[in-house]
Amino acid sequence: DAAQLPVICIDGPTASGKGTVAAAVAERLGYHFLDSGALYRVTALAAVRAGIPISAENEAAIAQLARQLPVRFAGSRIWLGDEDVSEAIRTEEAGMNASRVSALPLVRKALIALQHSFARLPGLVADGRDMGTVIFPTAPLKVFMTASAACRADRRYKQLISKGISANIFDLRADLEARDARDQNRSAAPLKPAQDALPLDNSALTIDETVNQVLHWWQERQPFA
Ligand code: DC
Repeated sequence: DAAQLPVICIDGPTASGKGTVAAAVAERLGYHFLDSGALYRVTALAAVRAGIPISAENEAAIAQLARQLPVRFAGSRIWLGDEDVSEAIRTEEAGMNASRVSALPLVRKALIALQHSFARLPGLVADGRDMGTVIFPTAPLKVFMTASAACRADRRYKQLISKGISANIFDLRADLEARDARDQNRSAAPLKPAQDALPLDNSALTIDETVNQVLHWWQERQPFA
């Protein structure tokens, strides 16, 4: 029963640093890690590979793909069938496609059981948009992580440049604001803080400071920690 398991939810908008922080918290605690956004990214890629346009008309077909998604997490690598898609799912286009498939309610439903299967002992850190509101509503710690749009665009820019991918900071900011708007305004599990989520704006914090804040909140929640 997921209600009894130590689960930490970290939700928030694009490029808020939640992925990095969630992975680091999982590492520090020796917990499992769920990157739920990767599931939407892989689903979108699977649809593109299958030649299925991402639109409401194809909702049932894409949900069917999601239900049978041959996705595998191996360390920091992500596989779709026998293809390592770790880089392919991280492009801006893949993120926008993920945002579009994630607005389809049947696709969200198709991915629920897979997400629940990550909640195993000794614990789970789950990163996404609806971890605290929909997937793990009884989790003992929910964090809603944000950072200013300027800050997030700057981080995404540096991340892309460090990977040798050219980028324009103004386009990046416009893209992430468009994606936030879509994620917040959709009717199915929109991006919003759970009622009992603790807000954490990390615009002025380092990754370590942010990780330590989450670990501190977790320690306060003995006996889970
Ligand atoms: O976190 P990310 O950028 O990898 O997520 C990609 C898209 O997937 C994001 O724009 C919205 C969607 N998503 C979602 O709807 N629910 C989640 N729990 C995680 C991601």
